[in-house]
Amino acid sequence: MADGDGAARTTSVVEPLLVEQRRFPPSPEFREHAWVKDRTPWEEAERDFEAFWAKHAEAELTWFRKWDRVLEWNAPWAKWFIGGQLNASYNCVDRHAQSWRRTKAAIVWEGEPGDSRVLTYQDLHREVQKFANVLKSLGVQKGDRVSIYMGMVPELPIAMLACARIGAPHSVVFGGFSSDALRDRIQDAEAKVLITQDGAWRRGSIVPLKQLADKALTECPSVEKVVVVRRIGDAAEATMVEGRDYWWHELMATADPVCPAEPLDAEHPLYILYTSGTTGKPKGILHTTGGYLLGVTLTTKWVFDLKDDDYYWCTADIGWVTGHSYIVYGPLSNGATTVMYEGAPDWPEKDRYWDIVEKYRINILYTSPTFIRTAMKWGTEWPAKHDLSSLRLLGTVGEPINPEAWMWYHEHIGHGRCPIVDTWWQTETGMIMITPLPGVVTTKPGSATIPFPGVVADVVDEQGNSCPPNVGGYLVLKRPWPAMLRTFWGDPDRYVKTYWSRFPGIYFTGDGARRDEDGYFWITGRVDDVVNVAGHRLSNIEIESTLVAHPAVAEAAVIGRNDPIKGQAISAFVVLKAGYQPSEDLKHELREWVAEKISPIARPADVFFTADLPKTRSAKIMRRLLRDIAEGRVLGDTTTLTDPAVIAEIKKQYEEREAAE
Ligand code: WTA
Repeated sequence: MADGDGAARTTSVVEPLLVEQRRFPPSPEFREHAWVKDRTPWEEAERDFEAFWAKHAEAELTWFRKWDRVLEWNAPWAKWFIGGQLNASYNCVDRHAQSWRRTKAAIVWEGEPGDSRVLTYQDLHREVQKFANVLKSLGVQKGDRVSIYMGMVPELPIAMLACARIGAPHSVVFGGFSSDALRDRIQDAEAKVLITQDGAWRRGSIVPLKQLADKALTECPSVEKVVVVRRIGDAAEATMVEGRDYWWHELMATADPVCPAEPLDAEHPLYILYTSGTTGKPKGILHTTGGYLLGVTLTTKWVFDLKDDDYYWCTADIGWVTGHSYIVYGPLSNGATTVMYEGAPDWPEKDRYWDIVEKYRINILYTSPTFIRTAMKWGTEWPAKHDLSSLRLLGTVGEPINPEAWMWYHEHIGHGRCPIVDTWWQTETGMIMITPLPGVVTTKPGSATIPFPGVVADVVDEQGNSCPPNVGGYLVLKRPWPAMLRTFWGDPDRYVKTYWSRFPGIYFTGDGARRDEDGYFWITGRVDDVVNVAGHRLSNIEIESTLVAHPAVAEAAVIGRNDPIKGQAISAFVVLKAGYQPSEDLKHELREWVAEKISPIARPADVFFTADLPKTRSAKIMRRLLRDIAEGRVLGDTTTLTDPAVIAEIKKQYEEREAAE
């Protein structure tokens, strides 16, 4: 962590105190039909939180064997539903396929080029069983890891549920990641099998996933077999390696359609999902079966007030946790219809999302503040072209939403009729943690409001003491919750250090927040070395290391500066090696270098060449000061720097350049 970065942010940066007066209480009609109509769940959870979770574990999930104990908590090690046995795939598929829901649409899929597919629960049941048998035939056994590198096609959730069915933890790698990023994640998980596709559609062009996977696989000796979904055809130019690579459709053609779900311990690993942390190496967040499934099932039902006849659409990519929890596991466990879209929001036109809402008569829409701000920029004429009257609830996730964007969403998409749920959570929390329940909680634009029943959140100062109302501090969680991460895959020490050492026994989120006089939470963003670009978490240090790996670069510092659309944008400050000269070409080259090595989402918005970087006496880069410069603020405390003249010089040059551009 950069020296004093978080501490300084909460004390020295004057955050304009938003005085948000608007209030949106639930309408009586909405409340009347909502799953949760009053404060009872909060009261029950406060009386006995273990009994609260146990009651819902019993009501919402199907168990093969009931647990002996609800919780074993040896901070920071949690075990939930000890002795209980269940299967996530069974809960998401079989129990609905064996009920009146068998002919109900489970997955409604819209392809980018306009093709579509509907899988009923019965269809899903058959496909998942077949693919589970395919995995077994490729030698996958309970406990083996399976990496998945795919775009948004129905085979992706099928593959995940097939893994869950046989107890093989999946590790989904976002299809927008580079082959290097894929390689690192496969190596860390030591995956035995990789599932990918020939190529993915993106704005009408092809992302050659199989070619990228092949490059990664040259350095992944653990991978024995590769299954390839044919999405594009010959144009993707996928080549198959004899004895290693198999086409999905060929294996499925002969697969046995019966594969009973394996009874698994509640603590059996369900999946690993890599996310950016404060150091360069991605962290493998481990989620287990029972607690995770309960957390996502109950939050999906209550936060979105999900009913059986709803069409529910979460616009995230399944490569991120939002897609895991709120496209796949949460909705399917509830027996819902979950819509998934393959492509970009502006393809072929800027009204694609509104077109999908109208086409499928979407009732619940869950998206990101970045998308809402982008849609605002595109203009109200795009949503105005469509009938959005089916919508009854709107949600957001991924970053703080500014009140202006909240109001736009409310007026132009919800037409003043739909409650908005601003949901705060993380890959690590697995489930939504701070959120309104739409039938009960009065919302305030820009606030994620209050913790979900059973969750205890607080805002604390450097010493871990609760901050008074409207004083900024660190957001922490003070009580274990069922969907919490259990550890980092293969690195328990780092798990303890990252979340539980700053305030012993208390989970540190990495976010800053304040709580207002009504106890509502206002999240202000990351206070650690994590940048949040358009809701995607990136590590400053990972991008810096990538820049330094370029032959021209001696040193680099990367910061996230405020951006009106994406929340944050990346600025890179680069010191060149002797013999290299700053130039526009080199800037371009460095930006593309990062895009290629990590992902296009990590591409710096700007690169600034400098002779030196500001460092503390312990040789840590003071990113906070660079952010002050990039955001046009007065410089914070510079007394701990080895050479305060360095930062003054950078500021001068930066401002001269700004003036010239
Ligand atoms: C940020 C995404 C403000 C926050 C589910 C958190 C938010 C990080 C919100 C986790 C929100 C997420 N308001 N900030 N409603 N939701 N964040 O792991 O900084 O990709 O720590 O999980 O996103 O990002 P992650």
